Amino acid sequence: MINVNEKIPEFHLQTLNSSYILRVLPTGHLINLHYGHKIKHRKCFDCLYQNYSIEVGNETNYNEKYTPFTLETAKLEISSYGKGDYREPAIHLNFADNSRVSDFKYKDYNIFKGKIGFKKQPEVRSKDNQTLQIILVDKIKSIELHLFYKIIEKCDVIVRSAKLINKSNKKVKIEKIMSFNLDLDNDDFEVFTLSGKWIKEGQISKQTLNKGTYYIDSKRGVSSSEHNPFLGLNNNSGEVYGFSLIYSGNHQGLVEINSYDIIRIQMGINPFDFQWLLDKGEKFQTPEVMLTFSKKGFNGMSHNFHQMINDYIIPSQWRKYPRPIVFNNWEATYFDFDEETLLELAKKANKLGMELFVLDDGWFGRRNDDSTSLGDWYVNYNKIPSGLKSLSKKINEIGLDFGLWIEPEMISIDSKLYEKHPDWAVKLKDREPSLGRNQLLLDLCNPEVVDYLDKRFTEIFSDINISYVKWDMNRNFSDIYSSYLPQERQQEFYHRYILALYDLMQRLTTKFPGILFEGCASGGNRYNPALLYYMPQVWTSDNTDAIERLKIQYGTSFIYPTSTMGAHVSDIPNHQVRRNTPLESRFNTAAFGILGYELDIRELTTRQEEIIKEQIKYYKKHRQLLQYGRFYRIENPFTKNKAIWMVVSENQKEALVGYYQRLQESNPSLETIRLKGLDKEKIYKIKNRDQYITGSKFRKIFGEKHNSEKVEAYGDELIYAGFKPMSQYIGTGYNQNIRFVGDFGSRLYYLTTKK
Ligand code: DGJ
Repeated sequence: MINVNEKIPEFHLQTLNSSYILRVLPTGHLINLHYGHKIKHRKCFDCLYQNYSIEVGNETNYNEKYTPFTLETAKLEISSYGKGDYREPAIHLNFADNSRVSDFKYKDYNIFKGKIGFKKQPEVRSKDNQTLQIILVDKIKSIELHLFYKIIEKCDVIVRSAKLINKSNKKVKIEKIMSFNLDLDNDDFEVFTLSGKWIKEGQISKQTLNKGTYYIDSKRGVSSSEHNPFLGLNNNSGEVYGFSLIYSGNHQGLVEINSYDIIRIQMGINPFDFQWLLDKGEKFQTPEVMLTFSKKGFNGMSHNFHQMINDYIIPSQWRKYPRPIVFNNWEATYFDFDEETLLELAKKANKLGMELFVLDDGWFGRRNDDSTSLGDWYVNYNKIPSGLKSLSKKINEIGLDFGLWIEPEMISIDSKLYEKHPDWAVKLKDREPSLGRNQLLLDLCNPEVVDYLDKRFTEIFSDINISYVKWDMNRNFSDIYSSYLPQERQQEFYHRYILALYDLMQRLTTKFPGILFEGCASGGNRYNPALLYYMPQVWTSDNTDAIERLKIQYGTSFIYPTSTMGAHVSDIPNHQVRRNTPLESRFNTAAFGILGYELDIRELTTRQEEIIKEQIKYYKKHRQLLQYGRFYRIENPFTKNKAIWMVVSENQKEALVGYYQRLQESNPSLETIRLKGLDKEKIYKIKNRDQYITGSKFRKIFGEKHNSEKVEAYGDELIYAGFKPMSQYIGTGYNQNIRFVGDFGSRLYYLTTKK
């Protein structure tokens, strides 16, 4: 809902639980009066406007007529360079006369419904939602800046973006243009980010803020596992602001507190090594960013993002679509497979109840390790003598859907493609290129390359019965140079690459709407909302260790819903950390994601097969709840020996709790788990999932399966007083009512309302 107080003017944007209020000052600058809790609309928000009553010492007076107004002390909605705001500008331009000062003043506004109409880049898929467009102008330089505020009321989200239009008849260089600038009162905020690295994505990082600037960014060409394009701010009152940038490339996020206790937040394309030449009449559209305010802490923030991603970002045909249970041959065989092996694996996968067979890396060219053949997207008949078409058919006949791994953006030096088109690789003319996983990037800035990839993969996908594609991307950028781009546009490389990537993804995903695409970049190196716009799920991490995954999935859940997180049960000792985790715990972790199995299932014992069959049955029964239930984090594995989380169905009639223990403590105390999101008035029956016991010694004592726990309680009891599981083993002996969890042990508890 948007209310406009025309006279001043003021704009009041309201979502279900938040208000965002803007005002135009007499100088023409647009400022923020409030962003946070929802407040009533009124005809004039004078009461929220504040300024110094006398000139501020040692600051630049914007204009004598408006003394004591200074830009440095204002809460600006957009900040530019050169008129007395000494904080980080959101926009920095370089004009034909080499001057760099710009100053944007209010000109007009528009309110419209539906899409803004981005060309070839992701845009939140809104139909009936209102958008406020504020038109600002720098009259001296004939440049317009449009700020967009798209309101997604039910998600408590405001989607911001900016568009720059060069109305002059000269070229303008954009040095920096962020998707938004937001200035707020500093309320003792702490900044919260998701940082990490390969096989360690989604790690929580918290910083207390002081005067100065805190930055996160990526200069890797991908959004990166180093810093997800996300910032969270929280204070002691349980208020949380979340900012999630819808962009897949180099990004920057910053939080700055200046001497006047104003906190500035910005996110957008990383200005580092970025420049964009805007010819006369041309426009530049920034990526969108989701802003949300939650009075219900970080869980509330996550619910808003999850709903946005599920309802407004992923392609509509995959909305609430039950995602299939995958068998992936990567950790089962790596490059070492032949057709016979694949068919054996498929038969076993089918017998165990899996639904989709994914043929991973190594099916093409001469690829028997990672040093060769990227770019040669033709089947290796030595490995698959009957070809892909026949293989996919055979797999279908076994009873499984067929899926394929590809890595379109790459080229190996040892490949036919490289022999033919060495200039298609990203590298400099006068330097030997540095390799990442032995490979080079393809220059997507060159439209010929994009057309080639489009054509080749269209041929492949049209020829076989394929229902899933894993789109991988396994290196960060280096040796940036495009032999296609003119010299004065070389600094456009990173952003042009991403726009071309979006173009390619758009072409293939619209041509093949029935193919479920899963994004991957050595795991989560390019996990971001923009990728989800094309591909509704992501391989969360190359780390398949269930215990490490607790942290990775816990962290990732701050922004991304379980319906987007690929999570597989793999072998022990685990290939990334050599840990031995019980099979039941491996499932219990993977169950809070899109379940898959990635191990040599030919080697399973009969007992392990039985266990997996039951796991899959259980997952299928609760799939909708696990993939689309409202996700609540309860206990934090970054600070505790345990992780606890739960999902609750929309109608609150069902819930599932995941309970995980890292190491067995000696003589553990009784536990209380305060559940969340339940209907306080309803009585819930709680029952643990029947799990098999690990270790023959324990089986002698306890029998095949763990004891069952059954509790009945009201929602309010479970929320406020907590669920009281049975006591754990405390070293004094065993009986049927002891809960033996052990190292890396876990439980799932299913809750249903009493009929
Ligand atoms: C990296 C991916 O994350 C893995 O799952 C696997 O697909 C390999 N690439 C294959 O090269």
